[in-house]
Amino acid sequence: MLSDLEALSHCAASIFVGVSRNSIATKKRFVVAISGGSTPRRFYTLLGSETYRDQVDWQHVHFFWVDERCVPEEHEESNFRTAFDTLLSKIPIPDENIHRIRGGEDPDRAARDYEEEIKKFFGVSESPIFDLIILGTGEDGHTASLFPGSKSLDEKMRLAIPVYLEESRRNRITLTLPVLNNADQILFLVTGPSKASVLSEILGEREKRKLLPAGLINPLRGSMIWLIDQGAAGKLRGLRSH
Ligand code: 6PG
Repeated sequence: MLSDLEALSHCAASIFVGVSRNSIATKKRFVVAISGGSTPRRFYTLLGSETYRDQVDWQHVHFFWVDERCVPEEHEESNFRTAFDTLLSKIPIPDENIHRIRGGEDPDRAARDYEEEIKKFFGVSESPIFDLIILGTGEDGHTASLFPGSKSLDEKMRLAIPVYLEESRRNRITLTLPVLNNADQILFLVTGPSKASVLSEILGEREKRKLLPAGLINPLRGSMIWLIDQGAAGKLRGLRSH
């Protein structure tokens, strides 16, 4: 458990540096899929700052997105824009290493195009293995753009799909559970007391956990790290601080 968002963001940046070095040393590339939302903004900003920027070999880093809101890329809700403003515009990364989801296009087409991009990058016959996937969770237990009760949770064949959110009447594009669970390393970032209840369910009893998309994240071959701050940990028992 970390004291606050600042400590958690530094910890996430150190993990990013370590996993990127390890991947580049062994595979000559580091492939990461990142989330949007507010929690990772400070982490992305730190990574692009003087403190961490020079510790990563950006020429060999490839960015994909866990999900995207169906808005043009200059829109303030765009996950691409969040990453661009906080990180991508601050680092020496080749354009061809940025594999974004075209949120401004027709959702079906954008999901198909993104899937093609992933297949082309990893090779069509292989199921993609991301070196690192950054995830968050909402107060309802959603992760990526996989929401409780949605049929998108049953998707087994597609890598990326469009989802329609009744509540906001908005479309999003998301990676599917089989892709997320195939990662080498998953890093969850959860902060603030508003997430305390759902976090205790996600990390709690198996039966309850299964009802929440974030509780269905269970890497098949890799490992998972939860970075949680004091506020979010408020309803968990038996945790040690770091
Ligand atoms: C998004 C996400 C989403 C996010 C959670 C947590 O595009 O919104 O990728 O799954 O990680 O909603 O969001 P916050 O960090 O804003 O709480």
